[in-house]
Amino acid sequence: MKKKIISICKGDGVGPEVVDEGIKILNVISRYIDFEFEFKEAPAGGAVWKKHGESLPEKSLEIIKNSDALLFGAVGIPGLPQGVAEYAILRIRHGLDLYVNLRPVKLYDALRDRCPLKDEYIGNGIDITFIRENTEGLYANIGGILKDEVAQNLMIYTRHGCERIIKYAFEYAKRNNHTKITSVDKANILIPSQMWRKIFHEISQEYPDIQKEDVYVDAFCQWLIRKPYAYQTVVTGNMFGDIISDEAAFLIGSLGMASSGNINPGKVSMYEPIHGSAPDIAGKNIANPIGTILSVKLMMQESFNQPKIANEIENAIEETLIEGRTVDIKNPDLNTLSTKEMGNLISEKLKIRLKK
Ligand code: NAI
Ligand code: MG
Repeated sequence: MKKKIISICKGDGVGPEVVDEGIKILNVISRYIDFEFEFKEAPAGGAVWKKHGESLPEKSLEIIKNSDALLFGAVGIPGLPQGVAEYAILRIRHGLDLYVNLRPVKLYDALRDRCPLKDEYIGNGIDITFIRENTEGLYANIGGILKDEVAQNLMIYTRHGCERIIKYAFEYAKRNNHTKITSVDKANILIPSQMWRKIFHEISQEYPDIQKEDVYVDAFCQWLIRKPYAYQTVVTGNMFGDIISDEAAFLIGSLGMASSGNINPGKVSMYEPIHGSAPDIAGKNIANPIGTILSVKLMMQESFNQPKIANEIENAIEETLIEGRTVDIKNPDLNTLSTKEMGNLISEKLKIRLKK
C-alpha cells in the first residue's frame, strides 16, 4: 500500500465546492488502486486572514511542507486589500521553490463547439502544454518606487533558473512523445530573453529528436489563435507565461475547465484549477469542478508517477462531457449538472474504468 499525505487548502468562494469534488476522485482512486491517501487541512485565504490576520498561517505552511502534495482551491474574497490573498500563493510558491508552472490546455472533442475559434483555426485540435518559469523575472518583484515619480521592477533571469525550467520542458516533451517544443521570448529587445534563448539552444542539443522553434511573444499571441493546433510543448518565462497561458485557457470552453501544477520535481508540489474564487457563483453548487479534477490528474502524473490513473481520470471526464454539463459549458441537448452531480458522474465513470 502506497501511503501519501495530501494537504488540502480549500480557500474561499467556490474553492471548497470544487476541492470537495477533487477529494471525491482521490477517494475513488484509493478504493480501487493500491494507494492510501491521508488528507490534512491547511487553511489559507481571505476568510482565514479576516479571522487570524494572516492569509497563510505558519501552521498551514508547516502542514503543506510535511505533505506529499497540495490540492489547492482558490483564494480571494471581495473587499480584501490588494495582495493579501496573493501573498498566500506566493509564499507557498517561493517557500517550496515551485519553479515549474505546468498548464495543459486541451480542447476536448465534446467541447469543440464551445471554443471561440472558427473550425478552420481549431484544425485537428488543441492540445498544448504550457511550461512557465515560476520564480524569476519581473514577478520576483524586485524593485521599488522613488518619490512617487519613478517606479521600477527588475527583470532578472539566472542561468540556473533558465536551465532548470528548460530542461524540465524538454524532459516533459520527451516523456509525452511530443515532436516539437516552442520557446517564447522577446530576444529582439530584452537581454534576459537573449540569455534564455542561448540556454534553450544549448540544452536542445541533448534532444536531437525534438524539433525546436523560437517565437517572439507578441507574434506568439497571434499564432495561438490562428493555428493553436501547431503547438505541443511551449516553454517560457514568468510574465509571458502568465499572460499567454491565460489567453490559451480561453480556448477550451470555460475557465472552469483549466488545471495547473506548481511543481518542484520530486518535492512537495501544488495542484490547483486556474480559476479564482468566483464570488459571483459561490455557494450555489454550480461551479465546474473539472479544472480541479484535472489538477488531481496532474498530481497523479507528476507527483505520484501514475500516468495510467491520470489517463483514466481524463477518459472519465471525456465520457461525462457527452452526458451532462455544468452551466458554464451547458448544452441544451444534455443534462445540466450541479457541481456535486458532475463530480459524482465522473467518479462513477472512473470506478468502472479502474475496476477493469
Ligand atoms: P475568477 O476566475 O474567480 O472568475 C472569473 C469568471 O469565471 C467569473 O464569471 C466566474 O463565475 C467564472 N468561473 C470561475 N471559475 C469557474 C468555475 N469553476 N465554474 C464556472 N465558472 C467559473 O476570477 P475573478 O472574478 O477575476 O476573481 C475572483 C477572486 O478570485 C478575486 O479575489 C481574485 O483575486 C481571486 N483569484 C484567485 C486565484 C487563485 O487563488 N489562484 C486566481 C485568480 C483569481
Ligand atoms: Mg494569471
